[in-house]
Amino acid sequence: MGSKFVQFVCLVFLLVSIVKVGAQQAVFDVMNHGGVTDGKTDNSKVFTDVWNQACQNNGGGVVLFPTGTYFVEPVVLYGGCKGPIGVQIEGTLLAPEELESSVDIDHWIAFQYVDNLVINGGGSLDGQGPSAWPFNDCLKNPQCKRLPTSLRLDFVTNASIDRITSINSKNVHINIFASQNITISNIKISAPGDSPNTDGIHLGSSHNIQILDSVIATGDDCISFSTGTNNVNISGVRCGPGHGISIGSLGKVDGDDVSFVDIRNCSFVGTQNGVRVKTWAPSEAGTVSHLNVENIEMDNVENPIIIDQQYCPSRSCNAEEFSKVQIKDVKFKNIWGTSSTKYVVTLKCSQTSPCQEIELTDINLNYNGLEGSGVSACSNVEVEAYGQQTPPACTEKIMM
Ligand SMILES: *[C@@H]1O[C@H](CO)[C@@H](O)[C@H](O)[C@H]1NC(C)=O
Ligand SMILES: *[C@@H]1O[C@H](CO)[C@@H](O)[C@H](O)[C@H]1NC(C)=O
Ligand SMILES: *[C@@H]1O[C@H](CO)[C@@H](O)[C@H](O)[C@H]1NC(C)=O
Ligand SMILES: *[C@@H]1O[C@H](CO)[C@@H](O)[C@H](O)[C@H]1NC(C)=O
Repeated sequence: MGSKFVQFVCLVFLLVSIVKVGAQQAVFDVMNHGGVTDGKTDNSKVFTDVWNQACQNNGGGVVLFPTGTYFVEPVVLYGGCKGPIGVQIEGTLLAPEELESSVDIDHWIAFQYVDNLVINGGGSLDGQGPSAWPFNDCLKNPQCKRLPTSLRLDFVTNASIDRITSINSKNVHINIFASQNITISNIKISAPGDSPNTDGIHLGSSHNIQILDSVIATGDDCISFSTGTNNVNISGVRCGPGHGISIGSLGKVDGDDVSFVDIRNCSFVGTQNGVRVKTWAPSEAGTVSHLNVENIEMDNVENPIIIDQQYCPSRSCNAEEFSKVQIKDVKFKNIWGTSSTKYVVTLKCSQTSPCQEIELTDINLNYNGLEGSGVSACSNVEVEAYGQQTPPACTEKIMM
């Protein structure tokens, strides 16, 4: 073989290996960049430094937190990366304990303006909620201090969160805002049933969201929706304890909208609600439409199916007045199990904007597990009922 040919072969190998390295997502292990796992030393600067390296790496990068406990002060990770970016958490990230004097901050770990993000690794985020919950006085104090959400995605696109555990957030566990094409799967969320405002996943102003195969136990909503959220699929989620899946409260401002939501193959265990739609009384105009709820098991749930257009828990509203939010095309299909109160179906719609196109198909819900013992109560709604109806649809009229 001529040496020219050998040189040529070597050159080809060299090029191939460069291309290969370029195409691979390089791994940036925080332990090679000053990470400390004593659970006390702050790793937030290490996190942002390593994130910036991974983000600026051509072809993308993965920030790796190997097994160990990493104390992390609040951080914001910004996008504009040169390739796909990942955060692989195999260890536990530990939030600071809340001090009464500490600053008002809405996040612990926040990602902003990131495209092509993967958060995974099988590890945990520990929000140290018990240190903060005693300071949550928002029910009594309108000027209350905001407590941080554990994980925030703001203006994030094409992202997934997979195999992550979030425990004891100080406030909401995962908040998705102004984001698109996000898949959340195989996650575990847990906080005690009496912990304040520890919603599992809160969605707002976001589109094309999937939440799959996850277990969510909290003190507040399992998954909650605020305005501007549509094209959401939820399946294989087990909720409880907590307040169930909630759309709303809507109608505080004009034009609130939540639409195209599909909730299927889920179970609710010991929750306050199964699936609830709530709008303020009185409220501005808005819409909730194209909601499909299918194949759902209810186990000892207080209000398995509930539309409440007279939501008014405080003095800032007036339950004598009406909501202008139009609820339209809502289907509940194949819902079975038990309720812990006799009102197993409650459709309390607005007198001025009655609900339209509400379907109940194959409902089999029993109060205290006793067949036929529950009540289906309705107002301002025409229900189309198909298949089995236990209890019979809308046998009681709700006095408004
Ligand atoms: C959604 O994001 C995934 C990556 O998480 C990407 O593969 C997929 O192409 C995106 N889909 C759309 C419609 O943008
Ligand atoms: C999301 O991914 C899709 C498909 O790969 C791509 O077309 C789109 O530009 C991405 N979105 C953003 C905001 O980069
Ligand atoms: C939701 O599921 C439907 C039907 O399977 C599918 O067409 C749609 O793309 C899904 N949407 C999202 C955001 O995953
Ligand atoms: C829901 O469950 C049914 C029956 O087990 C299954 O065929 C279907 O694929 C599931 N759908 C989703 C979106 O998980």
